[in-house]
Amino acid sequence: MELTYFPIHDYGPVMKGMVIGGVGIFHVFLAQFAIGGGMVMAWLQWSAMRTKDPQVTADIRTFLDGYFKILVLVSFVLGALTGVAMWFTSIQVSPRTIGSMLDAFHWLWAIEWTFFSLEIVAGYVFYRYGPRLPDATRLALLGLYSIASWFSLFWINGILSWQLTPGAWQGPEDVWVGFFNASFWPSLFFRTVVCLTLGALAVCVVVNTMDVAEARRRDLIRRASTLLTPMAIMPALGAWFLAVIPDDSRSWVLGGSPTMTNFLAIAVGASTLIGLYAVAMRFRRNLTLNIATSALLVALAFGATAGGEFVREGVRKPYTVRNHLYSNSITPGEIARLRARGSVTADPYPLSDPERYPNDQVRLGAKVYRFQCSVCHTQTGVNGLTHVAGSWTSEQKRLNFSHLQQTRGFMPPFAGNAEELEALVQFTEWLAADEPAQWPLSQDPATTAQIEAWLVDSGTQRGGH
Ligand code: HEC
Repeated sequence: MELTYFPIHDYGPVMKGMVIGGVGIFHVFLAQFAIGGGMVMAWLQWSAMRTKDPQVTADIRTFLDGYFKILVLVSFVLGALTGVAMWFTSIQVSPRTIGSMLDAFHWLWAIEWTFFSLEIVAGYVFYRYGPRLPDATRLALLGLYSIASWFSLFWINGILSWQLTPGAWQGPEDVWVGFFNASFWPSLFFRTVVCLTLGALAVCVVVNTMDVAEARRRDLIRRASTLLTPMAIMPALGAWFLAVIPDDSRSWVLGGSPTMTNFLAIAVGASTLIGLYAVAMRFRRNLTLNIATSALLVALAFGATAGGEFVREGVRKPYTVRNHLYSNSITPGEIARLRARGSVTADPYPLSDPERYPNDQVRLGAKVYRFQCSVCHTQTGVNGLTHVAGSWTSEQKRLNFSHLQQTRGFMPPFAGNAEELEALVQFTEWLAADEPAQWPLSQDPATTAQIEAWLVDSGTQRGGH
């Protein structure tokens, strides 16, 4: 199949991963809360129907039909909006990745959408008519909302976990092999526990706004915090997830990449604190959860989500679909051909500001950077080329750019010819020199020959760790 070029959006000094990650963390947090919120509502409704104490039943109704319902609605709406924002940004950053996800899971994605629709309908009916309905109908609606929202997680989880562990998947005909992949179950269970935790914590925050006696508030908190119990199996689920992800990904989070290790530590640390508090709440009856403490717990939960999502995205590098598609939208099988032909020779999109560059060689370098590096690096901003290689000698750049996959295992192999590589070196040096108006051409045949030899030496396969 001929490689298709897509226009590439430039966010200036901001790394593309940060744009997606920034939107993504809010989305995941809100969407998981919307699921967990529904689950705790169903749980409380059930609990209200079981108790013999009419006062408790009344309190639960007041609680559910008061602020809490609105909170779940707001997060559901914001979750849906940030979800659209997610696809909107990711399709700009990597159209080919989103395209292959659609190719692989077209109908499953459509099924996800039907559950999402069911979730909207059930949620809206409860929101609109809930207070007037009998208890059994309320429970049925909340149950339907929870099941539908959990299934939308189920379907999307298969597609996202496939990106990291496609396993034996070879193409769109292997739908189920790809969907029920190695990290499918651990991440589904893990996320389900996270949903319950977020829902239960939010109950603890909102209960504080109720104008009833302390003891009655505490009773509600106690009921909701039962749903924090599954947190106990989170370490096991986390270990299961780590056990099934690829070896190199695991080695990064366990020390190989300090950044990823730190983010994992944040996620684990924040979750542990929440867990300890949940245990304390269970065993120390008079422990109150005031608004400040519970807001702090929710903030910790946000930190844990942020850390966890960062790690999940990070460990997939250098792929967006492991072994099938590199983050810069080049497939492993295309590298050899692009090395022979040049990676941007057929790229039809002009540079957005060609006059900015001093000569054609630097312009070529800018195009190569845009096509091969810009998905993970900026020019001079976050993880900018000038930061990672600015101090290197020209020789060092030539050697390491040609051995990109061995330089750092997070990077795909360089996928262009020697002329393009030298242009990229010149582009980087011109940037590091503060973009002077005049820049000499670098056209020594010995240099080209050296780069060619190095490219052969590095090979077209992925690097080690
Ligand atoms: C899949 C994402 C990705 C792509 C694509 C990518 N890089 Fe990197 N690169 C990284 C990461 C992550 C680092 C490590 C940053 C850190 O350690 O803080 C890195 C580091 C580097 C370094 C420093 C290596 C070191 O050991 O200090 C250089 C040089 C570099 N990249 C050049 C490039 C060039 C040139 C391209 C394009 C031809 C490119 N990268 C494409 C992700 C990528």
